[in-house]
Amino acid sequence: MSKIKTFYQCQACGYSSPKWLGRCPDCGAWNTMVEEKTSPGRSMSAHAAFARSGPQPLSSVSGGREKRMSTGIAELDRVLGGGVVEGSVILVGGDPGIGKSTLLIQAGARLSEGAGKVLYVSGEESPEQIKLRAERLSINSDNIILLPETNLEAIIATAASLLPGVVVVDSIQTMYAEELASAPGSVGQVRECAARLMSFAKKSGMPLFIIGHVTKEGAIAGPRVLEHIVDTVLYFEGDRGHSYRMLRTVKNRFGSTNEIGVFEMTDAGLLAIENPSELFLSERPQNVSGSTVVASMEGTRPLLIELQALVSPTTFGMPRRTSMGVDFNRVNLLVAVLEKIAGLHLGGMDIFINVVGGIKIIEPAVDLGVVAAIASSLREIPIHPKTVLCGEMGLSGEVRAVAQVEARIREAAKIGFERAILPKTNKARLKETFGLEIIEVNNVEDLLEAAVS
Ligand code: TYD
Ligand code: MG
Repeated sequence: MSKIKTFYQCQACGYSSPKWLGRCPDCGAWNTMVEEKTSPGRSMSAHAAFARSGPQPLSSVSGGREKRMSTGIAELDRVLGGGVVEGSVILVGGDPGIGKSTLLIQAGARLSEGAGKVLYVSGEESPEQIKLRAERLSINSDNIILLPETNLEAIIATAASLLPGVVVVDSIQTMYAEELASAPGSVGQVRECAARLMSFAKKSGMPLFIIGHVTKEGAIAGPRVLEHIVDTVLYFEGDRGHSYRMLRTVKNRFGSTNEIGVFEMTDAGLLAIENPSELFLSERPQNVSGSTVVASMEGTRPLLIELQALVSPTTFGMPRRTSMGVDFNRVNLLVAVLEKIAGLHLGGMDIFINVVGGIKIIEPAVDLGVVAAIASSLREIPIHPKTVLCGEMGLSGEVRAVAQVEARIREAAKIGFERAILPKTNKARLKETFGLEIIEVNNVEDLLEAAVS
């Protein structure tokens, strides 16, 4: 018998080494090297399914549009680029308990009405547990077939004989391929299972949803290797304390990325929200200082979001700066601009910034909102409640133009806003104002004058 060799593989990036190392030389992560056994069997290439055809001219490839099925959930269709494509593999990642299984059983129920059987493979929950959840969601269907299984070969064999319209694999981290000696959830297993499922989906034309867990750092565990293999990567995110959930496209071979779908987690499951801006603004206090509304873009979708600042004198020696939902460093930078350029006295002040609803905004277009909210709280002057802001701020206090301004103010007009504070260059380029009064600002002084004086 040949000696079984072992090697060490980084669980974060897949780097392998014959020796154990404390720090992965490739990705720099500490303590991620795990011992794995080399397998006697040969692992499959991710794209083996395509190897059948030889070289051919592009023009001779019969094309046409890909076939899409609606999932029956508009927000999910949106992030998928208009529905599920035949034979595509969709990875849904997210924190534990965020609602991945709930979303997919709901989508499964709708899909089973049109697409035939839905095979729901669960390596995490027993059929009884899934039944309990389905009862809460009032789902009961002969067409949803539950399979408690973690062995990949058995799953593929069942799918091949049952011929379902859609397969859902609840958590790739619980699946294992027999020829690999390593434990389920290790990089080797996750990659191998995903590659095999991908190849099966391509051959059979069955769309496949794969649920993946997210590590503490926020990446899908077992990790980037997986993102390369699948066609579409969706992240399900949201704040535990809030009921809003966002489904974000990170990668999509069949549509645009940067789309988001917004859901609310209710006691009857996930509810798609078509008008998120209205919902985010529904509890907004009127005429209080430190609160403002910013127009942010999530992909092609404008979102109006309330942003709050609280500025109060420091009671300890060091002023505290806290930021929830916007980048902390960005806030510090804007505070520095307010101090140095606009001359506001923030040195002895604690500053707290919060984006309402547990939403995270990554766009610099919310800079004006952050600056105005801080100044409003410091001066205790409320910002006009029907005003929306967007624009980026530079280090010398200059206001810079942002993209897609028309979409932003159209949304604001739709919800009943009356004024928009915009960068000067954006105003100049604007073709339509949608009935809003447009106030142009060129620098931080203009902004303070327009918003909080
Ligand atoms: P789940 O889909 O099991 O999460 P995941 O598969 O991502 O780990 O969702 C679990 C959470 O959702 C749980 O905390 C309870 C909540 N929930 C509701 O609030 N309403 C519902 O109708 C359902 C089914 C779950
Ligand atoms: Mg689950």
